This record gives sequence, C-alpha cells and structure tokens, in this order.
Amino acid sequence: MSDLHRRVDETHAILERIARDFTPAVFASSLAAEDMVLTDLILKAELPIAIFSLETGRLHAETLAMIDRVKDTYDYDIALFRPDPLAVERYVTQNGLNAFYESVDMRKECCRIRKVEPLGRALAGKRAWITGQRRAQSATRAELAVQEDDLSHAMQKFNPLTDWSEENVWDYLRSNNVPYNALHDRGFPSIGCEPCTRAVQPGEDLRAGRWWWENPESKECGLHVVDGKLIRIKSVAA
Ligand code: ADX
Ligand code: SF4
Repeated sequence: MSDLHRRVDETHAILERIARDFTPAVFASSLAAEDMVLTDLILKAELPIAIFSLETGRLHAETLAMIDRVKDTYDYDIALFRPDPLAVERYVTQNGLNAFYESVDMRKECCRIRKVEPLGRALAGKRAWITGQRRAQSATRAELAVQEDDLSHAMQKFNPLTDWSEENVWDYLRSNNVPYNALHDRGFPSIGCEPCTRAVQPGEDLRAGRWWWENPESKECGLHVVDGKLIRIKSVAA
C-alpha cells in the first residue's frame, strides 16, 4: 500500500471514530490546502461532522472564493462565524484599521476579536473539534498529537493530519481533483488573513509569511492552546 493510501485509511478511521464517539463534532476549516483534504474526506464519506470557517472580515478574496467552490463541488454550505461587529468597530475606531502592525498586543487583540471569540461560539455545545494542523508545519507542532484534551474549550481536539507531509497533502488534492485556494500557486504555502500573510521565497519556512514582521517567539493567533499555553509558532529554521 502506498504511503498516501495508508495515511488516507488512517485518517478516515479517525474521522469515523470522531463521528461515532464524539457527536456533535465540528471541523474548523481555514479553507487552505490541509483543510480541503479533510473537507473532501468528511463530505465524500457523508460523516455527520459540520464544517465551519472563521470569517474574520480580513480574508483574501481567493480564500472567500473557496466557500462557493465547496458549495459548487460538494453542494455543502460551510457555516461562517464572524466577529462581533461592535467589538471590531471599537477596535478600529480606537486604534485604526491596521493597528496589528504596531505591537504584538494590538495584533493579539485583533486575533482575539476576529478569531478567538468567534471560535468559542463555533465550539459551544460540541464534544470535539477537528483541525488541519500537521507536525511538519512548524517546530512547535513537532509534538502535535492526533487527540488532545482541549482544556480551554473543555472538549476533545483532533488533528487527524498530524503525520501527513506537504507532499501527501498535494498528492491527495491532485489525485482526487479537490479544489484548492488559488494563492497556493502564488507562493503562499500557509494562508491566514490578507494583511497578515505574504508569499514566501523558495526554501523559506512554510509559515514564514505569517505575521512576518514579528519575532518567531510572539507568533501565535490564540486558536491553538495546549496544556493551558498558547502555542508558539516558531519557524523550523529558527
Ligand atoms: S493558525 O495559526 O492560523 O491557527 P494555520 O493557518 O496553520 O494556523 O491553521 C491551523 C488550523 O487552524 C487549520 O487547519 C484550521 O483547522 C484552523 N484554522 C485556522 N484559521 C481558521 C479559520 N479562519 N477558520 C477556521 N479554522 C481555522
Ligand atoms: Fe487581525 Fe491579522 Fe489576526 Fe487576522 S491575522 S485577526 S487581521 S491580527
């Protein structure tokens, strides 16, 4: 059996176990490559796992276009969770639209308003959530487990693609004709909000284009908390 086939079988078994033992479970999709692998596996197997995206209000047009592409391909409506408009208005009025470039605290506050608080609403009442994180994405994800106790949300958290390589992801997407974000063909291996993501140069770390103006130690968005600590997103090279 090929490496990819084995990984697909294992991932499929994990998703089936989540659907069987942890209903209601949800999958958080950023609409990037890894998350399209999981979207394809979940929807083709018709698993009872709802898919949602945090629509921060600052995503690229190419990322937003994936919502319609999922609808066209799978006839599925991804649930969108948006930030509290009053909190956004307050932040922008007090600090400016792009205040996240000014300091790490300003950046974290923007991520809290646009991602972390809506994530809490998306996860309310659920028993488990699923992410597309992989070990090979960054040094801090090297210890990533398939199943974690998410203490901050009091539920189980699953990372079914833990052991997938970048090559596995692209083999899967291409061999199954899965739609993917057009930015991946323009030098964006990792995609977040538009003002906080840029293309990387060949050979650069996969996540080097995320919050590129910050020190590697401060890079964290607050979505992924392990043992009560925010995950530090360091570059592999660092
Ligand atoms: S992160 O630093 O933004 O969290 P990354 O972009 O590598 O990292 O995403 C890791 C995982 O977090 C994704 O596979 C997905 O499960 C979840 N995630 C990230 N951004 C979003 C989003 N906007 N909406 C839903 N889930 C997201
Ligand atoms: Fe705000 Fe940038 Fe965080 Fe998006 S990634 S929520 S724009 S600071």
